[in-house]
Amino acid sequence: MREQIEEIKQKSISEISNANDIKELNELRVKYLGKKGELTSILRGMGALSAEERPIIGNLVNKVKEELESLISKKEEAFKEEELNRKLKNETIDITLPSKKIKRGSKHPLNRTIEEVEDLFVSMGYDVIEGPELETDEFCFERLNLPKGHPARDMQDSFYITNEYLLRTQTSAIQAREMLRKGGNEPIRMICVGKTYRREDDATHSHQFNQVEGLVIDKKENHVSLADLKGTLEVFMKKMLGESTELRFRPSYFPFTEPSYEVDVTCFNCGGKGCSLCKKTGWIELLGSGIVHPNVLKMNGYDPEVYGGFAFGTGIDRLAMFKYGITDMRYLYTNDVRFLGQFDRMG
Ligand code: DAH
Repeated sequence: MREQIEEIKQKSISEISNANDIKELNELRVKYLGKKGELTSILRGMGALSAEERPIIGNLVNKVKEELESLISKKEEAFKEEELNRKLKNETIDITLPSKKIKRGSKHPLNRTIEEVEDLFVSMGYDVIEGPELETDEFCFERLNLPKGHPARDMQDSFYITNEYLLRTQTSAIQAREMLRKGGNEPIRMICVGKTYRREDDATHSHQFNQVEGLVIDKKENHVSLADLKGTLEVFMKKMLGESTELRFRPSYFPFTEPSYEVDVTCFNCGGKGCSLCKKTGWIELLGSGIVHPNVLKMNGYDPEVYGGFAFGTGIDRLAMFKYGITDMRYLYTNDVRFLGQFDRMG
């Protein structure tokens, strides 16, 4: 019986070590260690042995069983590791492969222009403030020296919500709000950028557009003058439209300034030579401005004997159009991605 056991042992060891995969190992496990396996059947035949020999043979069979079990599981581990290594090798990710392109949106040309204007004025020490788009008649007109029934109101066709409330037609309304907020005894240096609304709609006018308003107020002894207004607007326009841009001041009328000026800049299209865009004049009208009217100062808490300053306002949309050579204002609002994507490279 011992020889038989030894024979089974040798045979099974060599078969196990020659097994090619886990499947074969499992078959060998059944063949030798299973219920009907070769070693098990030896245990069954032990009835024929003497009482002394039984434990010795039993012990021997169990030892061989243990040995085979450990051999099989070692081999099994080796197969599993091999399999894992093969998988790891086959499934490696090439991180040097370029990824799929993600489609990104681009900043709207209006927002680019607004950010540039704000950055410029912040660099000159101005505050950037905001005001409501739904404005009262009082702030939009009355406090700016435009009482009810004033003929200059006709220049701004308005969207009234009630008799008192309207969509603001001009960011100038913020002048009055800021003067009242400052309480009449502090200097002001502010710009306000925001949406404005008027009843008009064509290639160069939209019912909704954006304006930037500027207001500088200081004590008269500090001499905030027309020269400062000119210098400020020159920096503003040259930085936005290019250093070769020139400005032309034309006397004009606004109820909230006296004297008032309309400001033209050299045509971006022809550089001042004259073309169809500037109607052969070489100039394009861009800003309204002037010295703040004493009535406006008085109505909003500043003593015109002590304080004075200048104001200006311009359309951001027109500025963006000149800056980027956009010929129809409606492009700015239809949001065609083919149009918007063209400003991606422009910093
Ligand atoms: N609010 C004026 C408009 O919408 C523009 C303007 C003109 C603003 C003169 C000003 C100014 O501050 O002083 O047409």
